[in-house]
Amino acid sequence: MRRSNFLCAIMAATFFTQAVTILYGQTITPSGLFQFNHATAFSSLPDGIEISDGPAHEVITALRDDVLRVRMTRQGAMSENASWAVLTEARKSSVATTPDINAEHYGFRTHSLIVEVDKKSLCLTVRDLEGNILQQDVRPAQFDGTAFRVFKTMPLDEHYFGLGDKTGPLDRREEAFALWNTDAYRFQESTDPLYKSIPFFLTYKAGVTLGVLLDNTWRTSFDFGKELPNIYSFGAVNGPLNYYILYGPSPKQVVESYAWLTGKPPLPPRWTLGFQQSRYSYESQARVMEIANHLRADHIPADAIYLDIGFQEKNRPFTVDQKRFPDFSGMIAQLKAKNFHVVAITDLHIANLPNAGYAPYDSGIAGDHFVKNPDGSVYTGVVWPGPSVFPDFTRQQTRAWWGTLYRNFQHDGIEGFWNDMNEPSIFDSPTKTMPVDVIHRIDEPGFLKRTATHAEIHDVYGMENSRATFDGLLALAPNVRPFVLTRATYAGGQRYAATWTGDNSSTWNHLRLTTPMLKNLGLSGFAFAGADVGGYAGTPPPDLLTKWLEVAAFQPIDRDHTESGTGDQEPWVGGPQQEAIRRRFIEERYRLMPYLYTLAEESSRTGLPMVRPLFLEFPDAAPDHHPLDIDLPASGEFLLGPDLLIAPSPWPEQLDHYLAEFPAEDWYDYWTGRQVLEDGGAGNAGQSPLTLNLQPELASLPVFVRGGAILPMEPLVQSTNETPRGPLTLRVYYGGPGKQCAGSLYTDDGKTYAYRKGEFLRMQFTCKVDDKGFHLHVSAHEGSYPAWWKEISAEVYGWSPKTKQISLNGRSEGQTALKSLPHGVDVVFADDGKGDDLLIR
Ligand code: GLC
Repeated sequence: MRRSNFLCAIMAATFFTQAVTILYGQTITPSGLFQFNHATAFSSLPDGIEISDGPAHEVITALRDDVLRVRMTRQGAMSENASWAVLTEARKSSVATTPDINAEHYGFRTHSLIVEVDKKSLCLTVRDLEGNILQQDVRPAQFDGTAFRVFKTMPLDEHYFGLGDKTGPLDRREEAFALWNTDAYRFQESTDPLYKSIPFFLTYKAGVTLGVLLDNTWRTSFDFGKELPNIYSFGAVNGPLNYYILYGPSPKQVVESYAWLTGKPPLPPRWTLGFQQSRYSYESQARVMEIANHLRADHIPADAIYLDIGFQEKNRPFTVDQKRFPDFSGMIAQLKAKNFHVVAITDLHIANLPNAGYAPYDSGIAGDHFVKNPDGSVYTGVVWPGPSVFPDFTRQQTRAWWGTLYRNFQHDGIEGFWNDMNEPSIFDSPTKTMPVDVIHRIDEPGFLKRTATHAEIHDVYGMENSRATFDGLLALAPNVRPFVLTRATYAGGQRYAATWTGDNSSTWNHLRLTTPMLKNLGLSGFAFAGADVGGYAGTPPPDLLTKWLEVAAFQPIDRDHTESGTGDQEPWVGGPQQEAIRRRFIEERYRLMPYLYTLAEESSRTGLPMVRPLFLEFPDAAPDHHPLDIDLPASGEFLLGPDLLIAPSPWPEQLDHYLAEFPAEDWYDYWTGRQVLEDGGAGNAGQSPLTLNLQPELASLPVFVRGGAILPMEPLVQSTNETPRGPLTLRVYYGGPGKQCAGSLYTDDGKTYAYRKGEFLRMQFTCKVDDKGFHLHVSAHEGSYPAWWKEISAEVYGWSPKTKQISLNGRSEGQTALKSLPHGVDVVFADDGKGDDLLIR
């Protein structure tokens, strides 16, 4: 017996003799317990194995060579094979496996993994093909009544990430979490649960990564060694024991496999990457126009203005307060003329207003679209509009009806919709949400048609709300990419909506928290996310708002938003000096738009996030392969895509200098093009991380570019609607001999699905140095979308010309085309779309 299985057998044998608290927050009495630990029957399946222990069954199958599914039932047949999270195609995939059975274990092999279930203990061990343990049960799964829990060994050097935007340290190790969507107004670092339930985490040990998705919509909980030392565990109060194991070994592979399993975020409209201005609430048409005009007058680039609940009549969704917004559609048209896109809130609670001519209520009742009490009456709860009723989003008919409610707003020209309060938040309930016995109906292709209690549906309710909105908008305008922002969601919700982290606070600590929250959200499928910039609760001091706007300029959603009753929070608040700094950063975001949009397109294709932890790109950055992000000196940092490293202080409120830790690569200062860490270069890769002493300053933010990157940038515009005027800039950061030097660009019309018919423009760039000189290759334009530029301006950093002779596509251009920059050279050349080879000697 291998030593580790021995451990499992001991754990299994001792379990029933102890009165252990095994379920998070619940003490279990032995009478209700069942542990799967004695095989009474076994069979090999074409794609896995099935084991029975009396009436209990376990089925382990391979969906792909690197994706396993584990299902277990205490009694009788497996639960319904349906999912709100996992795509049907993925769930139905399978690969042939090779049985691997001997005296000690039942099991099978795929081309990537070895799966063993110990005959004595029924503990599961997953190994790589060399036999290294990737994951191991510490004891077999346990059931107590309807609840279950799975226990795994927790190696000392293993780290845990994911679970959406839960607060606390980036690494979930020694933390415990409950997943139960909760309106967590003014949440703090210790608040749990929060708004979303994404039961997906990554385990990361010396660079080797696995993903685990517990696809269970009931209240679930995850404990990474907090309760039981050296054991991590997960479970649910009810519902199926059904989890997926995704093998990397690289973290990127796991994130991409998770996208294969649960879907990718759609390509967002480009304007959603612009700066967004919001508050609860711009209380009149005049005020909305004043904000828009102020942004334009002060030349602060911006793309979106939000209408929070105050634009509605008595907070009733899908209405407009005609007194304060006397010409609503006229206002939207005026905003459009100024290149603004409007996002309107459309909360899911429908005011309970019988016989009042309130169409969402009337049509909802007529179509039987609201959730019910156990006695069959329509459930009501108090939210913003007062007593409200709630759509039954797990019925496709109800989602289709919900979609039709957007017709007028869409006709008015509103381009984005915000689904808030969809945990659902309910003010007059002691639990602040629906009672768990409220009845939902499931009427859905792929699912059995049945009713389900709120206890089962709660965590997917917000996601299905955002799905109804996304699909509804598509039904109304099939060629326009919808933009939906949701607060609550579940695994897979990235298919329908972007998200934000909810009601944070205007404190330095919340600015700091934003980074780990967005990193973990990105690892959990949500590539497109943000936090309220400046903080929601409270009024930020001017320096905090400034620093927040600096950092958020490099995050996917850049939305300034604040609570009602707080001070103004627009970029000009606090005086012209602060405004000038903030403007510079928002401008920089707009210059980077080609890079941002290229990243968004990559996310939509691969599921890789825009904001990335360092370990996603540099899993080998530390000599012992631990994830660099967990080191204090790297904990404030994040990557935007593969190439930009943003390094705010891990203690943003402090004036003292701080140490920033970097993967051992060549880095360039983004702002100057100067090479930093000159002696840390390519030869050092894989060695100890490099450090840099940084002095925080209000007016600056350290941003670095990876050597070997080619960043596409554009001339400044005030809105993504404007066509940039001037050349496409390629900032080429030479990474040294033998180092890849590459970049890419994706663009299209930014709003429709024409790209699916080939109307996009994709380009690849590469650079190298040989004995002739420096070469930049620009690929031919792929796709039929026309470029807005006629020329490319190539800025080359990290390589110095000798003769300054230029040749383009083999033709000598002399020396005239070359301009010197403080830390590089710049060559401008025509780009006719056929591809270019530039040589600088
Ligand atoms: C919730 C949202 C917040 C919004 C407010 C009013 O608290 O999280 O962003 O401004 O409701 O709609």
